[in-house]
Amino acid sequence: MHCCAISSAKLLVWKWAAICKFAGRVERQMARPVRLRDTCMTRHRIGILVCSLRKDSINRKIALSVAAFAKSTLDCRIIEIGDLPLYNEDDDTNPPPQYKRFRDEIAAVDGILFCTPEYNRGIPAAIKNALDVGSRPYGHSVWDKKPAAIISASPSPIGAFGANHQLRQSCVFLNMPVMQQPEAYLGQVTSDKFDEEGRLREGPLRDIVLSISAAFASWVGLIEHGKMKIAENAAHALRASESM
Ligand code: FNR
Repeated sequence: MHCCAISSAKLLVWKWAAICKFAGRVERQMARPVRLRDTCMTRHRIGILVCSLRKDSINRKIALSVAAFAKSTLDCRIIEIGDLPLYNEDDDTNPPPQYKRFRDEIAAVDGILFCTPEYNRGIPAAIKNALDVGSRPYGHSVWDKKPAAIISASPSPIGAFGANHQLRQSCVFLNMPVMQQPEAYLGQVTSDKFDEEGRLREGPLRDIVLSISAAFASWVGLIEHGKMKIAENAAHALRASESM
């Protein structure tokens, strides 16, 4: 009975010491926690996938406009998809060199912007192929948790709505948080909306693309901040369990 009482007291002291040790560590950590302002002010790296292979693609011009508008907040580069051979699962063990180039480029960016036309109410084959290439080998998807946005542009009034949502469906499965608002179905986008340099002329389309660019920069900042916070909390929890 006496022995038991000593053990309980000892246990209490150990527990209290552990709590104090943990509290000290948390206090030191909390002196410089991940702040939303810091994450949002980071110039995140963005890979833009232009889902049309056409030289004079309106979607490519929209992509370049976003890159220019968001220059101060996003470091954008176009990642080409036109050279990727059609995906074949048999090649997983010995993939074509173009797959490695593409996977490495996607892995190196913080977020993805898709600029897509609509082909027969769906997405062009080139972008579906790129999604499949990036998703394999199984368990090694390069898309996982990358914040994304989808802009679809078409000369037709409904702005490639069908392609936009088909692409969104694959992104959901690939675990990519896709920006929900503002929705970006750009209709009646014809070549006269751009100048000789391919820049958007003054007008409502330019204003919309500007606001989409700003919203996407905030979206990437928010998701990246959330990911860092989750990692920070997990590290705290691990330290807490180690010192118990
Ligand atoms: C099209 N286009 C088209 N447009 C649309 O709004 N809905 C659609 O379903 C289709 N389907 C379609 C199929 C194929 C095979 C082609 C080649 C084109 C027209 C398309 O929107 C137009 O060509 C755009 O200019 C293509 O975008 P880029 O290449 O300019 O970015």
